[in-house]
Amino acid sequence: MIKNCLFPVAGYGTRFLPATKAMPKEMLPLVNKPLVQYGVEEAQEAGMNNFGFVTGRGKRAIADHFDISYELEHQIQGSGKEELLGDIRTLIENNTFSFTRQHQMKGLGHAILSGRTLVGDNPFAVLLADDLCVGEEPGNGVLKQMSELYNQFRCSIVAIQEVPADQTHKYGVIAGESMKEGLYRITDMVEKPAPEDAPSNLAIIGRYILTPDIFDIIKDTPPGKNGEVQITDALLTQAKSGCVLAYKFKGNRFDCGSIDGFVEATNYVYENVYKG
Ligand code: G1P
Repeated sequence: MIKNCLFPVAGYGTRFLPATKAMPKEMLPLVNKPLVQYGVEEAQEAGMNNFGFVTGRGKRAIADHFDISYELEHQIQGSGKEELLGDIRTLIENNTFSFTRQHQMKGLGHAILSGRTLVGDNPFAVLLADDLCVGEEPGNGVLKQMSELYNQFRCSIVAIQEVPADQTHKYGVIAGESMKEGLYRITDMVEKPAPEDAPSNLAIIGRYILTPDIFDIIKDTPPGKNGEVQITDALLTQAKSGCVLAYKFKGNRFDCGSIDGFVEATNYVYENVYKG
C-alpha cells in the first residue's frame, strides 16, 4: 500500500497575479475549500496518510492551513460555525503533514528530488494540486485507481488523458504499447513537444506514482526542456531500464492552473459538491 504523497507547491502561480502576489496559488479556493485540500482529500481516499509538501518562499499559508488554529476555534466555539472546520480538523488529526523547501526553481524533477527526505525509500504518489481530478464514480478518485494498479504491477505509473494536437506543448506526452484497455507500457516520453514532435496525443496530467529508485535517476538527469530538470526525462530513463505505465484514468480533470479551467472547476464544484 502506498502511504506517502508528495505535493510540489513551490511554483509562483504567475497566471493568477495579482491574486497570488502574497498568497500561494494552491490556496485559491474552489468555492469554500483551497485547491490543495482537494488534492489531500484525493490522496487520503487512496489510503495515503503521510503528506509531504515541497514548498518555497511565500508558501507558509499552506502549512498553517494543515495545522490547528486554536484561536479561531476558540472564537467560533458555540456559534454554530464549528462544523465548517470539521473536515479539515479530521484531516489534520488523521494524517501527517511535513514540509521542506525547494530553494531554487529548477523544475518538477528537482522539486520531487527535494522531497526525498519526506518520503524516504518508499514508493510514493506525486500530486500537482493545479489539476483537480474527479473520479467517474464517487469514492474512486484518480490516485485510488492508480494505487490499485501499483499494487498489481509494482512500477511507476503516470496518469494520462487525450489532448488536442495544439495542446501537446503544455504537457509531457507519451508513446506506449497498449497492455489492456486504458493501460500502456511507456516506450517514449517527450516534455512539452510541438504538435509535429509529439509521439501521440496522450498527455501526462498531475498524478504520478513513483518507485524510490527515481531519486537516483533524477540526480543523474541533466536539465532538459526550458533548462529545468524534468520528471518526464527521468521517467523515460526508468522506462528504458524497467517498466513505467501510463494509465488513462476514469474521470474528469480540470486545469486549475489556467483561468478558464479554474472557472470551470469552480462551477463544477459549486453545482456538484457544494450544492449537490
Ligand atoms: C508538469 C510536467 C508535465 C505534465 C504537467 C501536468 O508541467 O512537467 O510533464 O504534463 O505537469 O500538469 P507543468 O504544468 O508544471 O509545466
